[in-house]
Amino acid sequence: MNWGAMLAPYAQVVEELKVKLKGIRKQFEYESRHSPIEFITGRVKPVASIIEKAEKRQINVDDIERKIQDIAGVRVVCQFVDDIYTIVAMIRSRSDLQIIEEKDYVSEKKESGYRSYHLIIEYPVETIDGRKILMAEIQIRTLAMNFWATNEHSLNYKYKGRIPKDVKERLQRAAEAAFKLDEEMSKIKNEVQEAQRMFHSK
Ligand code: GTP
Ligand code: MG
Repeated sequence: MNWGAMLAPYAQVVEELKVKLKGIRKQFEYESRHSPIEFITGRVKPVASIIEKAEKRQINVDDIERKIQDIAGVRVVCQFVDDIYTIVAMIRSRSDLQIIEEKDYVSEKKESGYRSYHLIIEYPVETIDGRKILMAEIQIRTLAMNFWATNEHSLNYKYKGRIPKDVKERLQRAAEAAFKLDEEMSKIKNEVQEAQRMFHSK
């Protein structure tokens, strides 16, 4: 398997999606409007992780592109929970991509305490062999959800996916605290935004 050749179009997808999402952020900025996007990150899944996932799910090498949906991954982080749905609506209305799967772990958290909104999209990209439609995963979450997920991810890595029960429970409580923070922030959102507008106009 020539991984470099296979993954190059995915890197293209990640870069294009980042450019487009950053464009949205800039447009809001120029209009001094609250941007539903705080920052964007993206990555192509490392080859070792692709192989590991394929083995775990007994996916044939030839089926990898069809069955692994997160080879290209983009994460959109926002300030407020409302922003998540604003971004989803904006993505839904676009004509340069197609949503093929949606998971709302924002209103329905996962067992671990994880919250995020996930979209699997089909995205057409021009390659040296012509147009190819590739899948990509977009994760949309607040800063608080991102803080939690980043820490939980590190612990999962440390404990090789077997987090001790007491740590798991602490993580679940931390997830609740993060969500409370998001709820409180939503309540004072208008005041925060007013303060930001005043700051911008200075
Ligand atoms: P994957 O095999 O991980 O792709 O799971 P899935 O196909 O069931 O999809 P799901 O939407 O549940 O998860 C996709 C991605 O979301 C993962 O690869 C992670 O990046 C993230 N994710 C899902 N659950 C958790 C979680 O409990 N903790 C953290 N930190 N990230 C999670
Ligand atoms: Mg997945």
